Amino acid sequence: KKLLIAAGCILAMMAGMAQAQDRPLRIAFDVPYEPFEYKTPDGELTGFEVELARAMCEEMGRECEFVIQAWDGIIPGLLARKYDLIMSSMSITEDRAKRVLFSEPYYITPGAWFGKMKTKVDVTDMSAMEGKVVGVQRGTTMDNYVTENMSDVVDIKRYTTADDMVLDLESDRLDLTFVDYPVGEEYFLSEDNYKVVGEPVKLGKGVAVAMRKRDTELAEKINAALKTLKNDGTYDTIMDKYFDY
Ligand code: ARG
Repeated sequence: KKLLIAAGCILAMMAGMAQAQDRPLRIAFDVPYEPFEYKTPDGELTGFEVELARAMCEEMGRECEFVIQAWDGIIPGLLARKYDLIMSSMSITEDRAKRVLFSEPYYITPGAWFGKMKTKVDVTDMSAMEGKVVGVQRGTTMDNYVTENMSDVVDIKRYTTADDMVLDLESDRLDLTFVDYPVGEEYFLSEDNYKVVGEPVKLGKGVAVAMRKRDTELAEKINAALKTLKNDGTYDTIMDKYFDY
């Protein structure tokens, strides 16, 4: 009888494990962060990482569910199991790597300064930067950079969403924004009214999928899937659609 109970337990455990395997992988995105992740006017979630996520899930044979999550709570939400993965242009940093496990990087983006065409702000001249208002998305590598290097000089405005930051530059409440280059390019460079100011700054060690520390098996599967997508051309096709370089 004991044996039966033991066997029953093992079966139940296996069923539990199979279930964990089969339930959809939940992936978090902070939108809008064009071209990485954003919604079309019809409300459909799209972008480089959204398409990459779809291809990755298909490659892994896993069903996926997409979750919208504000950036400032995106790591806490992962740790609280609200979702299993973050694919939100999250750059690998030492600090984050203490809390989450990163896949191999699938993109590299520097931070860049964007301002109005008319601006005379010079980011290389700290005395000229005195009192200038610089916008960043809160908790990003750009926020860390200005906080560490410029907080004595400039007035830093931190935004919950990239969208609000864009609006504030538009309405001259900011002198500059500091944002992932492709995002600034997408929002600003399509208009003649804006320009890149100074040189882009290398921040982090590339953008990667973030997951919980203990999900090492999942990380292996994700790395394998990303590798396949790079080798079979899927990755390049998606890249070409969203980035011009
Ligand atoms: N790449 C930057 C970082 O890792 C900013 C990412 C913000 N992403 C977003 N979807 N809002 O901190």
